[in-house]
Amino acid sequence: QPIALLGVPLEAGTGRRGAAMGPAALRVAGLAERLEALGWSVSDFGDVEQLPAETIGALHLPGRAHVPEIVASWVRPLAHEARRLCDEGYLPVLMGGDHSLSMGSLSGVASYWHEKGRPLYVLWLDAHADFNTPSISPSGNLHGMSLALAAGEEELFPVMADAPRAVVDPSRMCVFGARSIDPQERELLRRRGVTVCDMRQIDENGVSLLMRDFLNKIRKENGVLHVSLDVDFLDPGIAPGVGTTVPGGATYREAHLVMELLEDAGVTVSLDIVELNPFLDERGRSAIALAELVASLFGQDVMDRPTQAFA
Ligand code: ARG
Ligand code: MN
Ligand code: MN
Ligand code: MN
Repeated sequence: QPIALLGVPLEAGTGRRGAAMGPAALRVAGLAERLEALGWSVSDFGDVEQLPAETIGALHLPGRAHVPEIVASWVRPLAHEARRLCDEGYLPVLMGGDHSLSMGSLSGVASYWHEKGRPLYVLWLDAHADFNTPSISPSGNLHGMSLALAAGEEELFPVMADAPRAVVDPSRMCVFGARSIDPQERELLRRRGVTVCDMRQIDENGVSLLMRDFLNKIRKENGVLHVSLDVDFLDPGIAPGVGTTVPGGATYREAHLVMELLEDAGVTVSLDIVELNPFLDERGRSAIALAELVASLFGQDVMDRPTQAFA
């Protein structure tokens, strides 16, 4: 299956500038070349085109939501593009841009798999759960709300308007690596039945056990998986190039193991790489770490081994 790269230079979903340079940095880090070296056919479709402000108009969301019109101007066309790439048989890889871009990628991807009748799962690799809604968000930043939109929180629906969309069952969502969740967000996650593997669970059980549980469930149901990789999933020591660093993140080895288990399971159908802020990075090392991780997800390994882990 060919891989499609698509850049989304969106930063309006965060409180700070710089994430719009993310797609360029991932290209400079050699993302396409690394995947090609693994034998994949890769097409880079450039950056998604932002809609003009007039076509969006004013959006009225309840509570706190910062510049939803600007976010909508990126994520609506992105949803159409993600849907089109799925229709054309590509495996879409979206290069952000802040995490609000998942509003668009997940909408498009979910609408495709909904029509195919295959259950779509979501793995949210992130220090945060991004499960706020405008009425409970402490910041009003839309990058903290994208998973909630995918799960069907109606307050956020105006952002997507006429874009292709399907709700993802929250019981098929797994937030992995969490270590910063707001009080009401935590309550909402519990009410909706989202699986949250926080850092304590990872420390006590290890990545392997938790990931295998989740991946086996997907395989048993003949499901497919959308992976959303936030740079702050990683420990700031290995990936400082992000606006929302939280100490105690995944180590280099834990993160690669997650990617290798994903590759073994063979269920991934789409990927977001988000929140890279090259303005805050150190000599490109966060961008390079991400490119290496994505290579692991697409089959880079040290020794060949039979895929017997998932029978
Ligand atoms: N929970 C906080 C908020 O809603 C932080 C969200 C951070 N999200 C992210 N995609 N980095 O503002
Ligand atoms: Mn995030
Ligand atoms: Mn985050
Ligand atoms: Mn392998």
